[in-house]
Parts: sequence; C-alpha cells; structure tokens
Amino acid sequence: MKDILPEEARIRDRVERIAREVLERHGFRELRTPILERTELFARGIGEATDIVSKEMYTFASRSGDSLTLRPEATAGVMRAYIEHNLHAAGGLQRLYTIGPMFRYERPQKGRYRQFWQVNAEVLGSDVPELDAELICALAQIIGACGVADYRLELNSLGCPECRERFRAHLQGYLRERLDQLCPDCRQRAETNPLRVFDCKASGCQAALKDAPVILDYICDDCRRHFEAVQDYLGLAGVRFSVNPRIVRGLDYYRRTTFELSSERLGAQSAFAGGGRYDGLVKQLGGPDVPGIGFAIGLDRLLLLLPEDNHEPRPAYLATLGDEARRAGFVLAESLRARGIRLEWDPAAKSLKAQMRQADKARARVALILGADELARGRVVLRDMDTKEQHEAALEAEVLAGELAARLQETEDKGKKS
Ligand code: HAM
Repeated sequence: MKDILPEEARIRDRVERIAREVLERHGFRELRTPILERTELFARGIGEATDIVSKEMYTFASRSGDSLTLRPEATAGVMRAYIEHNLHAAGGLQRLYTIGPMFRYERPQKGRYRQFWQVNAEVLGSDVPELDAELICALAQIIGACGVADYRLELNSLGCPECRERFRAHLQGYLRERLDQLCPDCRQRAETNPLRVFDCKASGCQAALKDAPVILDYICDDCRRHFEAVQDYLGLAGVRFSVNPRIVRGLDYYRRTTFELSSERLGAQSAFAGGGRYDGLVKQLGGPDVPGIGFAIGLDRLLLLLPEDNHEPRPAYLATLGDEARRAGFVLAESLRARGIRLEWDPAAKSLKAQMRQADKARARVALILGADELARGRVVLRDMDTKEQHEAALEAEVLAGELAARLQETEDKGKKS
C-alpha cells in the first residue's frame, strides 16, 4: 500500500475528473458503497475458486464475530446496493459508477499494489449488444481523453452458462492429459477452474495450452450473434479492437462479452482495464434476474501510461518586506484568494531573495512585491516571473484580482494547448 504524494494526487484528480465527465455524459450516476462488505458477498459473487477469493482477500472477524472483507473489487458491492435499495424498481436501465480504493493481497510489483484504485462502471437492466458496445466506447473515450492511444483492446465471449460448461468439460479433458506440464497451481486449477489456466504466465503452462480448445468454437448461436453484434457496433463507432479467445478474466461472474485493455509499456501487469457482461449475477446474489455489464479501470496502471502532465495551474506569489507590509500582505492575500486567485506566500521567509526563490519553486507566474515604500504609496510591484518585467499597480484587491486572473488564465490555456 502506498502513500500518494501531492504531485501524483493532482494527476489522479485530473484523471478521475475526466472519467466522471465522460461517464456522466453517457448517463452514469455515481454510487458510493462501503469499503467493507460481508465476506460471503465476495465468495458468492466473485467465486470461491478464484484467486481473488481463495488467496487475495483481506478478511477479518468484526467484534460481533461477522466475517468482513475489504473489497477486492467494486462490482459485488454495487450489486448488493442495487438489490438492497431496489434500484431495479425504477425500471429501465441503471448506469452506475464508483471510484475508490480496492484491496488485494497480491505480491507487490510494478503496477500491482495491495491497495489500488479503480474507476468502476456498471450498466444494469438489459442484455442488448448495443449496451456492451456503448460501455466499451465510454471506456475508450476516457482513456483517449487522458491522452493514451497506444493500447490494445481485446474482446472475447465466454458464452452463456451452457456454452461455458461445454467448453469447460473439453478444456478440462485437454488439461488432464497434460498435467505433468502444468505448474502446481494450474494442476489444481485444471480441476477447480480450468479457464484460469489461460491466465498463467508460466512458460510450461503456456506451452501446454498451445493446441488447447478455444471458447469461441463452443458458443451457441445466440451467444455468437450477440458477440457479432457487439463487434459490429464497435466497428460503427470506429473503435479498434481484436478478438482474443483467451481473454477469460479472473472473476467467475462473467458471461458472454469480456474485454481487456492492455499496454506493453506496463510490463508484466499489462492490463489496465477490464470487464464484461455478468447476466445472472444479480439473481445469484438474491435479486431479480437483471442482466448487467461493466468495467473497471486500474487507475494506478493508467497513471503509468499518461503522457507528461503540464496542466498544473501556476499561482501568483506574494513577497513582503518588513512587519507592516507583512500585515497588509496578509489581508491582501486573503482578499485575492476570496476573489478566486491562486496565491502562495511564506510569511516566515526573511529576505526578498529567499521569497523569490520560493516563487520560482512554486512555478509562480507573477510575483507581487510589497515593501514599506510601496505600501505608503498604496502601490504594489508586479513582477512577471517568466520575462522578469516589472511594473507597479494600485494596491486594490479588486483591480489586482482582475489583472492576475487574466495572466494566470493565459498560462493555464497555454498548458492545455501544449
Ligand atoms: P479486474 O480485471 O480484476 O476486474 O480489475 C480491473 C483492473 O484493476 C485491472 O485491469 C487492473 O488494471 C486493476 N488492478 C487489479 N488488481 C490490481 C492490483 N493489485 N494493483 C493495481 N491494479 C490492479 C474487476 O475488478 C471487475 N470488477 C471489473 C468489472 C466491473 N467487471 C464488470 N464490472
């Protein structure tokens, strides 16, 4: 688990704002669920045999003896809330998003943390393929708006439970003949969750899978038509993708469409977003039979892909000389801030030189310099920190705020354009 320092927090905030904006444009509304849920919810929702449930959850007993778990993902909690608050009663579609930390006890490495953040979006209420395509479009728009273009979008269909069961049996037969080539984990997976063997990175397992059956050869006509329609719509929207029948995903609730976004730049943990359809999950958790589809973006990984950020707004900096100017400066600073100006100062700093150094460090666009002499004349010196030009202006918050706002805005616009 890591601390997020101010520089990174600012970039995260920007990415979260982009995600909110794109999702809200698509009709999503925010839902916030607790970080803790009953352990049983994840066991039933995600699946007992998944890596997440069997070995990655932070689970503990509460004082009253209930077993609670720090959420390893958001979907199960969103489904619980959807059922508990009868959100289906309104009829039609519910588009819900949530942003927050998730917890998985995994081996930490680049792009993999024990506390990580997700932007999670779910559409409940229908299984038409237009929604699959629309959700993937929204995801692609978020990533595009963050300035990331060099990634792969891979799609697959896991079929309905019948298709999947048929495939599972064939795959299991295939794996049982090759148990000696599999790693110890996959030998067990071959029995409990054979599809997950596709996700194993061990070279022996990958080699053993060379001629393995693929799910797309086992899906029924309805599932095939659904999958083709999703691809058709994505094509119409101009979204580039490829079909990879080995995208199986690590959670048991998926049906039909599944997808993953990945980038080679991320190394071993290359997937930075993923999701799929989970018709049947709401019912399985005790709700009505409402189909759904969703995705989660791994914010920590998306951050590693962002182009260098130069959008940080630049402040004004106030330098004062002497006790009286510091007193007047205090009042000036607050009245400028109240008028919307981003302004920094350091009332503990002594010399003008030290204050100018700090102004540079803060990447100030303009410095206001106020000494006893200026104060006596009701003036203040404005110094352009880029060109070093100086001029005097009236010491009047209203007028100063206007001039500063124009200058600071100018830099922000330039940052946005570059
Ligand atoms: P997931 O594939 O398990 O799906 O996680 C989604 C994304 O979260 C991953 O692609 C990855 O970027 C990020 N992630 C997962 N584990 C870690 C980690 N330990 N450290 C950093 N990032 C990580 C889900 O969670 C599903 N609930 C997505 C979904 C929503 N499906 C339907 N609706």
